[in-house]
Amino acid sequence: MDKRTSMKIGLFCVLLGACSAVKIINLKVPSTYLLDQTSKTPDPLILDCEYEVDENEKGFVLKWLLDGQPVYQWIPSKNPFPFQSFKNRVDTSYVVSQEHLHKHRAMAIIKPLANFTGEYSCIVQTYASIDRRAAKLKIIVRESKFDLSYYSNGDGEVTVDCQARDISPLPELQIRINNELFETENLKSVQGENGLYNASISGTLRKDQLESPAQIECLLTIPETNYNKRRSTTYYDPDTPIAGPGNVTDTTGIGHIIGGFENIIVKIMLLALIFGMVAA
Ligand SMILES: *[C@@H]1O[C@H](CO)[C@@H](O)[C@H](O)[C@H]1NC(C)=O
Ligand SMILES: *[C@@H]1O[C@H](CO)[C@@H](O)[C@H](O)[C@H]1NC(C)=O
Ligand SMILES: *[C@@H]1O[C@H](CO)[C@@H](O)[C@H](O)[C@H]1NC(C)=O
Repeated sequence: MDKRTSMKIGLFCVLLGACSAVKIINLKVPSTYLLDQTSKTPDPLILDCEYEVDENEKGFVLKWLLDGQPVYQWIPSKNPFPFQSFKNRVDTSYVVSQEHLHKHRAMAIIKPLANFTGEYSCIVQTYASIDRRAAKLKIIVRESKFDLSYYSNGDGEVTVDCQARDISPLPELQIRINNELFETENLKSVQGENGLYNASISGTLRKDQLESPAQIECLLTIPETNYNKRRSTTYYDPDTPIAGPGNVTDTTGIGHIIGGFENIIVKIMLLALIFGMVAA
């Protein structure tokens, strides 16, 4: 074969992508993985790389890389090998297919860490050919707490405060009052040694700018993901009665609670009296 012909064949292969002996046909990397720290047995994070390879190809190797660093390697005659950063985090017994050249191609990550976020590449190669594909994955660590509250701080002002704890990556927070965006101070955040963030926003307004009752909401979102949470509460001005004459049924609930307290107090006084008599 002269040089011209082989160049033509090469070009033909590149254009059709048809001549390579190993070819990735599907990369299955979820764009997000939600990690619930309270769960003892979180679902494994499975990354799969589907490829076509000629059974006669020699020297097959599969590799997974995270941001360019190898994290997992598999050669069909050997056991799958997780590299240092993924050691004890990959279930090496996971089998995705019974076919000889496919058995351990998928990487099953158990208990992923927050810093497993990044670009994952699958590389498959033989002596004759190579193919690679990459996709981004974001690990989301679910917050341990998400609270919305308000309080009067004297001076006729009300402060609204919204905070999330132990979350990753850094979320965005937004407060809405009666469905309108409430201008707050900038997001405050601290990152702990575990990589997780505490984040909060708060804002203050004059009581006379706030009708009572008012619906207050806090929205938590993580940019570039569909992760979102919502908390809501109803603001009541403590100086205006909650219930008008038509809401008598609402107040009876409180009445019962007070009645309950009175009962307890009476019982305690009785007990004290009895103890007093015994002691005497
Ligand atoms: C991820 O964080 C852990 C500590 O939480 C650290 O030991 C490990 O080296 C980090 N891995 C990467 C890939 O940065
Ligand atoms: C986040 O908030 C909790 C509760 O207030 C606190 O115990 C923890 O230390 C905070 N984390 C950081 C990184 O400040
Ligand atoms: C309480 O009264 C107000 C008006 O006085 C009314 O709008 C509201 O629906 C009432 N709530 C209940 C629970 O009856």
